[in-house]
Amino acid sequence: MTENAKKKLFIKTWGCQMNVYDSSRMADILRPLGYSSVDGPEDADMIILNTCHIREKATDKVFSEIGRLKKHKDEKEAKGGKMIMAVAGCVAQAEGDFILQRAPVIDMIFGPQTYHELPEMVLKANGNERVVNTDFPVISKFDHMPTEQNQGAAAFLSIQEGCDKFCTFCVVPYTRGAEYSRSPESIIEEAHKLADNGAKEITLLGQNVNAYHGEAKDGKIWGLARLIEEMAKIDAVKQIRYTTSHPRDMDDDLIRAHGDIKKLMPFLHLPVQSGSDKILKAMNRKHTADRYRDIVADLRKVRPDLVFSSDFIVGFPGETDQDHEDTMQLIRDVVFASAYSFKYSARPGTPAANMTNLVREDVKSARLTELQELIAAQYLDFNKSCVGTTTQVLFERKGRRDGQLQGRTPFYQAINVQANERLIGEIVDVIVTEATANALVGEVKTSESILKSA
Ligand code: SAH
Ligand code: SF4
Ligand code: F3S
Repeated sequence: MTENAKKKLFIKTWGCQMNVYDSSRMADILRPLGYSSVDGPEDADMIILNTCHIREKATDKVFSEIGRLKKHKDEKEAKGGKMIMAVAGCVAQAEGDFILQRAPVIDMIFGPQTYHELPEMVLKANGNERVVNTDFPVISKFDHMPTEQNQGAAAFLSIQEGCDKFCTFCVVPYTRGAEYSRSPESIIEEAHKLADNGAKEITLLGQNVNAYHGEAKDGKIWGLARLIEEMAKIDAVKQIRYTTSHPRDMDDDLIRAHGDIKKLMPFLHLPVQSGSDKILKAMNRKHTADRYRDIVADLRKVRPDLVFSSDFIVGFPGETDQDHEDTMQLIRDVVFASAYSFKYSARPGTPAANMTNLVREDVKSARLTELQELIAAQYLDFNKSCVGTTTQVLFERKGRRDGQLQGRTPFYQAINVQANERLIGEIVDVIVTEATANALVGEVKTSESILKSA
């Protein structure tokens, strides 16, 4: 490759882990075209904004980011250079034409299902053509992806996309399209490659990952449990996780897998959204609060140390104080190790956007604070209960302080440990010494510390 061919690519990513994954795959696709990733927009040859549409002001945020970044493009072009600016992801999918009209500075607009077509799009953009690509192509992008990936010890692997569930508040079925599962063979092959590249942990990704139903070459349909079972057979893969799951797809096989497959980590993100049956119904979640409690109990029966995290929406239209209290009670009953919680925001085009019995903003804020305080207290309790225990830690990177490494416990807690850099990428026994609301501190367990504690 000549020096001229070295081009700088800056990708800014919002949204869920699917988007994080997509961004790294876009970088993989663009690498053979001479682009290598950089950490900032200065002097970039291409900027991609990989956007999320899930909550309000998503589009506004994108426009103000475009406004901020435009000066880099202007500077570059004043020097006779060229910069391609692109909007990708779910805002591009939902608002492609609007962005095209409103932001003449944008050269490429493309949705989440099209990034395997990036080389063609770049070619057009280089020919000064503006590109909009928001189709849902018949051919899967997964079959057209390079396999090269520099993913580190904790890798992500996208196995399923899209959603057919149509919760009344949610844009995902519209931005990501219908549910689609990759073939088990292609997933296992990618897992082998990730393992060969040093991955010790693989997190299987999908908007509805436990709805996974991939068709194998022999025509048999594999569920997520079967897929995890096969993946666990790869020696170098020591830890397996999956996200995001839906309570409705938590079938018996998958529950059993949590008991049988030791490599499946004891942390599960299982969004519930609300603890009120009335609200769950209005959300079209198709499960009750008690059904959720039962699933949690069944999972704990087979894997007693399993910890849970969840997603909550407060202030959905029609939510009363009692409905909110039902949510608080569910949290007290289940006990979560963490959660994402949001104030409901109406998304254009979704059924809930037409609902009229809206909850006041100040009420939403108060409910959110109350809920977050309870979850934070539960998380702190859990973290504190770990002090003094020995836990396995996968070290992922250098920590913020000198000499420290950062990693995750099996329960997905962040942990900082004084340790030699050569332990990055390794799974190491660590004694937990301190706990705060957000993270743990630990010491590598050595023969000396074993003697000390004996
Ligand atoms: N597929 C996953 C979640 C996808 S979106 C699931 O079914 O749970 C991630 C989270 O964003 C959701 O779980 C929900 O808590 C939140 N969210 C989605 N739409 C929202 C909206 N309109 N307002 C507020 N929060 C929303
Ligand atoms: Fe959205 Fe519901 Fe699908 Fe999750 S299951 S992506 S919340 S529609
Ligand atoms: Fe956001 Fe799209 Fe993910 S809307 S949450 S980036 S699927």
